[in-house]
Amino acid sequence: MILVTGGAGYIGSHTALSLLQNDEDVIIVDDFSNSDKRVLENLEKLTHKKIQFSELDCCDEQALEQVFIKHTISACIHFAGYKAVGESSKIPLEYYNNNITSTLIILKLLKKYNAKRFIFSSSATVYGSPETSPINETFPLSVTNPYGRSKLMVEDILRDIIAAEPDWSIGLLRYFNPIGAHESGLIGERPNGIPNNVMPYISMVGAGKLPCLPVFGNDYDTHDGTGVRDYIHVMDLAEGHVAMLAKISKEVGLSTYNLGTGQGYSVLDLVTQFEKVTGQKINYEIMPRRQGDIATCYADPQKALKELGWKTTRNLQTMIEDTWRFEQDSQGKSR
Ligand code: UD1
Repeated sequence: MILVTGGAGYIGSHTALSLLQNDEDVIIVDDFSNSDKRVLENLEKLTHKKIQFSELDCCDEQALEQVFIKHTISACIHFAGYKAVGESSKIPLEYYNNNITSTLIILKLLKKYNAKRFIFSSSATVYGSPETSPINETFPLSVTNPYGRSKLMVEDILRDIIAAEPDWSIGLLRYFNPIGAHESGLIGERPNGIPNNVMPYISMVGAGKLPCLPVFGNDYDTHDGTGVRDYIHVMDLAEGHVAMLAKISKEVGLSTYNLGTGQGYSVLDLVTQFEKVTGQKINYEIMPRRQGDIATCYADPQKALKELGWKTTRNLQTMIEDTWRFEQDSQGKSR
């Protein structure tokens, strides 16, 4: 059985769905600090399966150990964690405690219960301010905020573990910018309050829930001056985890992959494409640059293609259609 921490969250829920659709047995743990119980009901609707689930905080070792006692866990995919960059600079202690402690506890239990297989949600943020794009996995690593540092610290911990105990199987997945939702419109991203990330923001402007998108800077060295990122459909990302799980199920060692499309779009590209796909006008206003942002960041996804046989199949139009379907289906629900 695969333990999916944070499995009611955005990326966790889509990955749990992919795993279940690939006939894996899954147990989700989540404390609902940034997610919603209805996600589990919707996963049941989508899979026609009973979802195994335990409500707990992964920093609670005793509670988590009960899951290992009740179920035979063979591997863990660890999504649970805090992820807001700005907030991480205000409450670093909470970020380090939550993101590092939970990981240490899970690793300890995986070892104790003889299931040394682990997939970690890392981020392209560990590349800091890359000199060029596309970015491959050998690029130098650096970070500028506690959220990013917590990701890099866990990566370092995992590299130390594999050096000392080579019988672990570990996958480090560096996500680029996940957007979109499952095509059913039943699960998607539900940020609390005003979104930090651009696509949920655009979608709320499209739905009339926010008046105007702030565009953070139009003087970057990019084709239209706005920031360029590698937006990846969350279901493509979910499928990347299924491919990673296949690898760690048969091989020991640590491997690291970028999960991105290899294609960059600017903020204004997103706005234009969103208007085209949905027919909604997106009002925007050019604002000063956001501190810590970089001009361009997109992946070289070739290593994942070669070694995992994984590549993205959903284009920006599909990402926007699915975002918009979820936005409309969730009207009046939890927002
Ligand atoms: C952010 C985080 C990154 C994290 C990722 C996933 C920062 C600096 N980086 O990536 O560490 O892994 O989210 O959660 O926060 N933009 C606007 N208006 C907005 C919001 C964003 O113009 O209201 C622009 C940004 O300047 C950027 C692009 O949109 O050029 C993407 O921003 P965002 O969606 O926040 O993602 P990242 O900053 O790339």
